[in-house]
Amino acid sequence: MSTYDLSFTKVAETSEIPVGRMKIVKINDMEVLIANVDGSFYAITNPCTPRDGDLSKSSLEGNIVTCPSQGSKFDVTTGNCILGPKTWFSRGKKNDAKSIEVRVKGANILLHKHSSWSV
Ligand code: FES
Repeated sequence: MSTYDLSFTKVAETSEIPVGRMKIVKINDMEVLIANVDGSFYAITNPCTPRDGDLSKSSLEGNIVTCPSQGSKFDVTTGNCILGPKTWFSRGKKNDAKSIEVRVKGANILLHKHSSWSV
């Protein structure tokens, strides 16, 4: 007998996100970027702050995505900002994205339904 964890919800199918690609999904009225890094799926909050850079408009290089707005770089496996925006006024200040727990069940990608997401 299998149990179903109600704290996770299906957001996509694995076939929708090939290796090296990304997809935006919505959960709890939040945008989440799902990335396929070498066959493993990771999820971080989107968009990038403070200028609402849509990370899905960029490309994935290994496990790094670059914000198309101001150039911040994020590690999609952790949400960590590894390089701040290229603007004189921000002085490279790094704002991490939130990492969301992902599970894959068969062909389904599930995300943890965090209740306290705030970026
Ligand atoms: S909005 Fe992404 S670096 Fe500024």
